[in-house]
Amino acid sequence: MKGQSFLLGSFFLLSCGTQEPDERELSVNTAADSVFTVKDEHSYSNAIEVFTTHLHLDLDVNFDKKEIKGSATHQINNQKAVTEMIFDVNDLVIDSVILDGKTRTNFVIGEDLEILGAPMTVDIEPGTKTVEIFYSTSPEAAALQWLNPQQTAGKNYPYLFTQGQAVLTRTWIPCQDTPTNRITYSADVTVPRELMAVMSAENPTEKSPDGKYRFTMEHPIPTYLIALAVGDLRFAELGPRTGVYTEPTLLSKCVYEFADVEKMMSVAEGLYGPYLWGRYDIIVLPPSFPFGGMENPCLTFATPTIITGDRSLVSLIAHELAHSWSGNLVTNATWDDFWLNEGFTVYIENRIMEAIFGRERSDMLLSIECQMLELENDDLLNGDHPEDTHLKLNLKGRDPDEGMTGIAYTKGALFLKTVEEAVGRDKFDSFLKSYFADHQFEAVTTEIFVAYLKKNLLEKENVTFNVDEWVYGQGIPANCVQIHSDRFAKVEEKAKLVPGIEDAAELGLERKDWSTQEWMHFIRHLPEETTVADLAALDAQFDFSNCGNAEIQCEWFQLSIEKGYTGINPAMPEFLIHVGRRKFLQPIYQKLSENAIDREIALEIYRTARPNYHSVTFGTIDEILGWEKS
Ligand code: BES
Ligand code: ZN
Repeated sequence: MKGQSFLLGSFFLLSCGTQEPDERELSVNTAADSVFTVKDEHSYSNAIEVFTTHLHLDLDVNFDKKEIKGSATHQINNQKAVTEMIFDVNDLVIDSVILDGKTRTNFVIGEDLEILGAPMTVDIEPGTKTVEIFYSTSPEAAALQWLNPQQTAGKNYPYLFTQGQAVLTRTWIPCQDTPTNRITYSADVTVPRELMAVMSAENPTEKSPDGKYRFTMEHPIPTYLIALAVGDLRFAELGPRTGVYTEPTLLSKCVYEFADVEKMMSVAEGLYGPYLWGRYDIIVLPPSFPFGGMENPCLTFATPTIITGDRSLVSLIAHELAHSWSGNLVTNATWDDFWLNEGFTVYIENRIMEAIFGRERSDMLLSIECQMLELENDDLLNGDHPEDTHLKLNLKGRDPDEGMTGIAYTKGALFLKTVEEAVGRDKFDSFLKSYFADHQFEAVTTEIFVAYLKKNLLEKENVTFNVDEWVYGQGIPANCVQIHSDRFAKVEEKAKLVPGIEDAAELGLERKDWSTQEWMHFIRHLPEETTVADLAALDAQFDFSNCGNAEIQCEWFQLSIEKGYTGINPAMPEFLIHVGRRKFLQPIYQKLSENAIDREIALEIYRTARPNYHSVTFGTIDEILGWEKS
């Protein structure tokens, strides 16, 4: 049941191997509970007592039944010699549980909540080494999207992909689904012979003749990073350590788009230390993928909406690559610490973009995000949860998805940028590098980071900084760095000329003259008095409606709805039916739902579009439109 509060949580003792006892004291002072005992409110597991160290999956992927069936064998550490191990399960059918490969044991599945699923308590012995769970998934498993051939680029083969973050892995693997614990994993996966399987692990580059694949991830990762994709895939190399997987018809376009990935890796390594995951590959998924990207280790999952033909949206790859340090190497201990993943990642993404493409471009990218942050911050401050503008969140009893706001991303990045400015770039860079080295393969709480920052940077350099206001306070502190862009100032001048324009050729501009970000800025800054006729004139000149660049289209469709320009425009319904990326769909459906006529149009489109969406996306849009589940 949605909205019901869940009280169970899992406690976990964080390892602080590199910290002296006095540092621990320091951290304790700023933490709500003890620094060593972290409570993950979004997992039922008792991982503090007994935890998985290695997981082996043996799975069969059945497209006809929309079912993954097999076993999950957990190698466990039961140092405390307890007699129960609690796993997270959501919507799974559990057949049986076997201990140490021989003894059947009892298990109980507790009350099921909509977001968290249920605790599955398994009887174990003090000396138990492995727990093998035989299970199958439901066709509606929230992590999984089963696509029919029509929903793919090639239209000939079905496709499956998973999305684990934040709490969806438990809908396809029974596990202790908490980022406080890390596991290595291996997998034997069988798929239809004509398809290829890839995971967040070491991957094949060719189809296997018998549809059987073996994977290993030898570095310990949190469970939300376990991922699988199955489809008619081809591989192409980008560089010695990098490559791309996608359907055959998209492959060469992806290779062109991602020409700078190898460079991005070198830049990130230069700043933050060696890339520890072996290869870095990207899989470009079908358009229904609900996110822009997902940092599954060794294999970033990405939306095809970044394949624009002009390399203008590759900052998304810089972002997912950056997670190889912030998030995958050093992981948020709980979803309340989500900004440690995303704020750091946006900061690093921007540094990579600056190093490769220059300050002008990286400032435009950040400026676009800052504009969104201002609006979102105001909305949050005026809404039911003004405390959601804190970097450190309290999502107890709520869907961890609700922490996915511009606060974690952009306020988080601006905090780091403001600290950088206060101490100087060189000192900040070596501080961050040590932070990653000292905490690699660990989960970190906000309190651990804050203590580390104070001790190793601010106190050391004798810099006074309002850390607590930034982290535990509302809104954006006054000392926030300001991002300025000369090119955006010029864009604003042009935008002022639009109202009353009859022929947009008068602007003396062509589409190719400006970057994607400049066009987004232009659309956002068209004056209030811009009319439907003006929009039509712009469309005649620049064809925003059909331009194929989803970032520009998304801005354009929002403005079109506001101005009442949508009725005559078939491009928007096409976009809504074709693209499943939530970031684009949410604001468009939101705008449509704000007046009765557009809301009817939205419902009509949604009837056709909804079957194309992943659960993450239709969950959000259902709420916006008040869609009743049948
Ligand atoms: N890890 C996130 C996606 C995510 C966050 C999935 C929380 C589920 C729960 C990923 O790295 C991300 O931030 N993606 C962004 C792109 C980015 C350039 C800001 C997206 O999908 O829009
Ligand atoms: Zn991210």
